[in-house]
Amino acid sequence: MTILSIQDLHVQFSTPDGAVQAVNGLNFALGKGETLGIVGESGSGKSQTVLAMMGLLASNGRASGQALFHGQDLLRLPVVELNRIRGNRIAMIFQDPMTSLNPYLTIERQMTEVLQLHKGMDRRSARAQAVRMLDAVKIPEAAQRIGLYPHEFSGGMRQRVMIAMALLCEPELLLADEPTTALDVTVQAQIITLLRELQRDFGTAIILITHDLGVVAGLCQQVLVMYGGRVMEQGSADQLFANPSHPYTRGLLNAIPRLDDAGQTLQAIAGIPPNMARPPKGCPFAPRCQWAQDVCHQQLASTSTVAAGHWRTCHLALEELHHAAH
Ligand SMILES: Nc1ncnc2c1ncn2[C@@H]1O[C@H](COP(=O)(O)OP(=O)(O)OP(=O)(O)O)[C@@H](O)[C@H]1O
Ligand SMILES: [Mg+2]
Repeated sequence: MTILSIQDLHVQFSTPDGAVQAVNGLNFALGKGETLGIVGESGSGKSQTVLAMMGLLASNGRASGQALFHGQDLLRLPVVELNRIRGNRIAMIFQDPMTSLNPYLTIERQMTEVLQLHKGMDRRSARAQAVRMLDAVKIPEAAQRIGLYPHEFSGGMRQRVMIAMALLCEPELLLADEPTTALDVTVQAQIITLLRELQRDFGTAIILITHDLGVVAGLCQQVLVMYGGRVMEQGSADQLFANPSHPYTRGLLNAIPRLDDAGQTLQAIAGIPPNMARPPKGCPFAPRCQWAQDVCHQQLASTSTVAAGHWRTCHLALEELHHAAH
């Protein structure tokens, strides 16, 4: 069953320098309990994609297209109705826990208030549910530590608290924007394992934003690779990893750090992402693409099918790409 269907999503910002097209024509669908990874370098449009869905764009931003959640278009819902969905049926976790935790209130107070508001629970059952969620994210001695303030937790534990908070109302959809970036590698792995378990236990659908394709491989069924506000490649994780069909995806794959192979040299993609206020005329990746041809600098490629459920946006013939990679 499809719970979320994104159709032709665009996000535009007006700035003194002119319009910035941050997201251009995104399409995807997410089923109950499924996980989608959105991957790309800084500025590729990942965060604005999910912020648009939640009605949280900056005041100079505008979204168009459709974001259908159970058939209701989130982009056109009145704020009152959106507020009933946000933090309840759809929850979000941010990169920096301190942006969503109030430093002046205990964790108990913050968690129980959410449940009282959205679920109409009394104090006591709200507290029990909050402790249950802290247990679920493996906070040791949750029943005692729920009385602490956010700064009394370590970074990794604070990230867990935030995940517990997001999961409080047992949302159908969790939007996780770089939930592990600020954490060290071991804690990152623990959080990803945790998300996988929570998904199994609660059947939560997850959109995971990351710049690390390695994280996606362990968690996601579907992958969307973005660059310069556009989808470069999209498909099931199995297909995309078995047969990466865009030079940018290949570049990202070469840049995955591996725990078991600390000595190997990572090949970062040379160059920097485009200035979105003045995007290149053709394919946004062309200036950094080792295979770029004249046409790539002149016009965008149309999206083509690699295999059933696997698409890419690239001028280069697939055979050429495979040939060049060997
Ligand atoms: N309020 C704004 N006004 C103008 N441009 C903006 C605004 N907010 C975001 N942008 C631009 O939108 C583009 C996409 O930003 P987005 O936050 O989605 O990037 P991202 O992929 O999440 O990157 P990161 O990995 O750094 O978080 C960027 O070029 C950014 O500069
Ligand atoms: Mg971001």
